[in-house]
Amino acid sequence: MTTLLATDSVTLESWLSDSDERTLANDVLDGFTRPFKEIPPKHFYDTRGSELFERICEQPEYYPTRAETAILAHAADQIIAQTGAGELVELGAGASDKARILLDAMEQAGTLRRYIPLDVSESVVRDAAEALIHDYDGLRVHGVIGDFERHLERVPMRDGVPRLVALLGGTIGNFPPGSRRALLRRIAGLLGPGDRLLLGTDLVKDPDVIEAAYDDGAGVTAEFNRNVLHVINRELDADFPVENFDHIAFFDRRHEWIEMRLRARRPCSVRIAGVGLRVEFAAGEELRTEISAKFTQRRLAEDFAAAGLVLEGWFTDAEQQFGLSLAGRSSAA
Ligand code: SAH
Ligand code: TRP
Repeated sequence: MTTLLATDSVTLESWLSDSDERTLANDVLDGFTRPFKEIPPKHFYDTRGSELFERICEQPEYYPTRAETAILAHAADQIIAQTGAGELVELGAGASDKARILLDAMEQAGTLRRYIPLDVSESVVRDAAEALIHDYDGLRVHGVIGDFERHLERVPMRDGVPRLVALLGGTIGNFPPGSRRALLRRIAGLLGPGDRLLLGTDLVKDPDVIEAAYDDGAGVTAEFNRNVLHVINRELDADFPVENFDHIAFFDRRHEWIEMRLRARRPCSVRIAGVGLRVEFAAGEELRTEISAKFTQRRLAEDFAAAGLVLEGWFTDAEQQFGLSLAGRSSAA
């Protein structure tokens, strides 16, 4: 662990180290030697990737951010009243814009103590922490730079007040069903009695609307998708001809998820020196970079049950585009 900053109001810790380059190396070795190539989505988010994601959120086609923000604006007071939360743990916090709505409600209710963002992207956590302590009097921020698949136990102990653990933005949908439930179960392990999970999920809807959200007209999502190749070129000394790859996004109706791929326009042979690998792409060959599952309330209930969680509150927008669930640990778990 490296302490990046420690003042009265801010602690910043990084749990990422050399072994994380190995994580990318292992994911590349594993994913690029499969019959159908793929790479896990967390590698999108270097500084440039985080900036591109923030721009995606501003695109007219990308409805999830606006829908979830509207739900939060409407429901935050009730969520804080219902939970009495004084501490917010946010997994995959990004720029922490949505956290502000919850922090405002906590401040109003007089419960606000501490905000604990966890994200793989150091730049977003650092920037958010600095802005937040400036904007909220007496707030303590404990930023954890890490991977929520590996560093959940690095979230500091609760500080005597009920806590809300949030996973917003539909990020849970980026995990295939089996690992999604395993992750939810581990997150449930962070909840003490009286603590609650706040989970944001995008909902099943007209496939055209979903596909447009992941293929905006300005091409920001395409650039974001290709960013993973820039990351591999830099971190693993590879020579991907990035512009040879087209962005593909399509809704898989059977699985009810959107899938992002990169498709090689022309055949190419890529050297990934850092892992001693040469990878061939045929013309038209695709690399899967992400899935983003869309939910129904029924699917969510099943996932919660499998993870030892019980649904205690459900909030949605007028058009039922997005859902926000409040859940606690089931007594049986
Ligand atoms: N919560 C924000 C951002 C969502 S984008 C919102 O709702 O708008 C997903 C965020 O999760 C990014 O900031 C990314 O850096 C982070 N992330 C993705 N995979 C992660 C992982 N395995 N561990 C920690 N953070 C992760
Ligand atoms: N969690 C976001 C989502 O599934 C991330 C995201 C948005 C994304 N657009 C993307 C990931 C495009 C990869 C490619 O909505």
